[in-house]
Amino acid sequence: MKKIILFIALCLVNLRLYSQYKEFHPGEIWKDNKGIHINAHGGGVLYHHGTYYWYGENKSENSNNALVGVMCYSSQDLYNWKNEGVALEVSDSKESPIVRGCIIERPKVIFNERSRKFVMYFHLELLDKGYAAANVGIAIADSPTGKFTFLKNSRVNAGKYPLDMTKEQKESTSTVADFKDWWTPEWRKAVEDGLFVRRDFMGGQMSRDMTLFVDDDNKAYHIYSSEDNLTLQIAELTDDYLNYTGRYVRVAPGGHNEAPSVFKKEGTYFMITSGCTGWDPNAARLFTSDSIFGPWKQHSNPCNGDGADLTFNSQSTYILPVAGKKDAFIFMADRWKPKKPSDGRYVWLPIKFENGLPVLGWLDQWGLNVFN
Ligand code: DGJ
Repeated sequence: MKKIILFIALCLVNLRLYSQYKEFHPGEIWKDNKGIHINAHGGGVLYHHGTYYWYGENKSENSNNALVGVMCYSSQDLYNWKNEGVALEVSDSKESPIVRGCIIERPKVIFNERSRKFVMYFHLELLDKGYAAANVGIAIADSPTGKFTFLKNSRVNAGKYPLDMTKEQKESTSTVADFKDWWTPEWRKAVEDGLFVRRDFMGGQMSRDMTLFVDDDNKAYHIYSSEDNLTLQIAELTDDYLNYTGRYVRVAPGGHNEAPSVFKKEGTYFMITSGCTGWDPNAARLFTSDSIFGPWKQHSNPCNGDGADLTFNSQSTYILPVAGKKDAFIFMADRWKPKKPSDGRYVWLPIKFENGLPVLGWLDQWGLNVFN
């Protein structure tokens, strides 16, 4: 009898751990199926065969460097997440670009219908080099939970000019050495005209904060902060998602955007970004376009109400379309805790639309029924 009671008690505890949430609680501790705060920062979500997979940076208590790798969690209802372990592990070999202690940020995973492979892109900074490398890392797996195999890292589109740079801009002889001081009006104009694109032409464009976007025709794009974080770039990927086609554009030259997140609704592309203030929050920015390659138009801050100036104390990372619900998108953001990185919080909010544009407002708690 005692054994049966113990068994039932254990089942009830498990049940509670597995389905403890019935709503989102932005900014609060969010426990996984093991009762531990989810460790998937700067993340993105892939929906595959009825399951959501959340990939993100594993952060430790006292370091932002990658000591573990990229985590994966799975969920059926978006509220309750099962820890699927480390999808991409850092390496113990000093020869590896993803050696333990490097910086891995903002991993995103997409599924390639043709190759049936899961492809991960992430921002990679090499060990002990600060944020100088500004590389993209690419990894691949047969299953959504991995393990992912690291393939390569590099800058983006070496030897290629963006589609939207004029002949004059490409042939300009102005170089970084011509500017003793940064942030002057002349320097800003030169940056807008592609000063850093030309500087990085041979070695490839810088790539830091990033996301991936798969369009309706299955073409995929890498969207990243480039040119010393001053300009976003959008680069088309090859059909296997493992390389660049060489076609890319610049967005908001000199606009200083980080944390890009993109979604598409009724033929319009929407992008929400942040400004550049390190781990501190700032006001979100909103852009729209009729084509992924632009031109992109900037609108005012999409956030409304208390906390709108600081994106509710968070920074965008991904916009998640809710499966099976029309025009239902979740804004995913990080509330960074640089002094205790693993304590970083997740701010997920529903996107509402007013006059055709996304609007974000704070909610202490909310459920998917807001989309009904
Ligand atoms: C802000 C970026 O959005 C983060 O991903 C990270 O790179 C920090 N800056 C580092 O300061």
